[in-house]
Amino acid sequence: MPRIAYVNGRYVPHAQASVHVEDRGYQFADGVYEVCAVKNGRLLDEGPHLDRLDRSLRELRIDPPMARPALRVVLREVMRRNLLRDGLLYFQVTRGVAPRDHAFPAHAASSLVVTARPVDLVKAQARAEEGVRAVTHPDIRWKRCDIKAVALLPNVLAKQAAKEAGGYEAWLVDETGHVTEGSSTNAWIVDTDGNLVTRALDSAILGGITRRMLMQVAQEAGVHIIERPFTVEEAKAAREAFITSATSFVTPVTQIDDAVIGNGRPGSVAMRLRELYIMASEALAQA
Ligand code: PDD
Repeated sequence: MPRIAYVNGRYVPHAQASVHVEDRGYQFADGVYEVCAVKNGRLLDEGPHLDRLDRSLRELRIDPPMARPALRVVLREVMRRNLLRDGLLYFQVTRGVAPRDHAFPAHAASSLVVTARPVDLVKAQARAEEGVRAVTHPDIRWKRCDIKAVALLPNVLAKQAAKEAGGYEAWLVDETGHVTEGSSTNAWIVDTDGNLVTRALDSAILGGITRRMLMQVAQEAGVHIIERPFTVEEAKAAREAFITSATSFVTPVTQIDDAVIGNGRPGSVAMRLRELYIMASEALAQA
């Protein structure tokens, strides 16, 4: 498969795609990003992802690199050139290239990079049917986790710790013992009454697009949702647990640290919601 990236106005072979050493994304993590799933050649939840990109840019006062219709053309062109049917689109906007100085540069054009990567959906489905292990880790991130910034060092460290402990995802835990979210996913449990529980949106978590779409799907399916924080102990005793993201859709968590969740198999609520979410987002996707 060809691998082509978009970098600041040019489509280039992925192996040669690069940005300037003084790009502020590289030097200060001064940038934001989005990850969108592509299924059957269609971008899932594109509108909400672009809305969130706009919000992240606004919050950090980074100029949009181009108007939305042009960005949508670039995203599709990257998909087309990569022959992407099932996979992920990554796009990143930084404050641009300027001599290193912490304060914003007076004149710098935002940088835009777009890459595509195929994903083995069969493998992802098998992972969901098997369930994954989450490993808890202290949440040491900054206080604006609602912004999808490329500054992911605490997330990287947590995920690596989870991986080294045999887990698939890290569940980040705040100072009060409550789960905020995963290192790159939102965290959910199903309580003993069958209600969905997930933390309410605030600056401690990213407002996941999958989270939002799943809420709509769950409501339509008559599943009651409670937005509140939950503790690690509560999660370990929950009927089910799962994670959501553009990369994992809805993936059951069957173990948290050494505690087995439910009967150790993916829960029926999570699996049903996974199916409903995929169906709904595919139905909404535009070519
Ligand atoms: N991560 N929380 C965090 C910290 C995330 O990084 C993500 C997404 C999510 C889920 O958001 P969404 O449903 O919009 O994908 C929650 C992406 C996939 C990543 O960094 O790869």
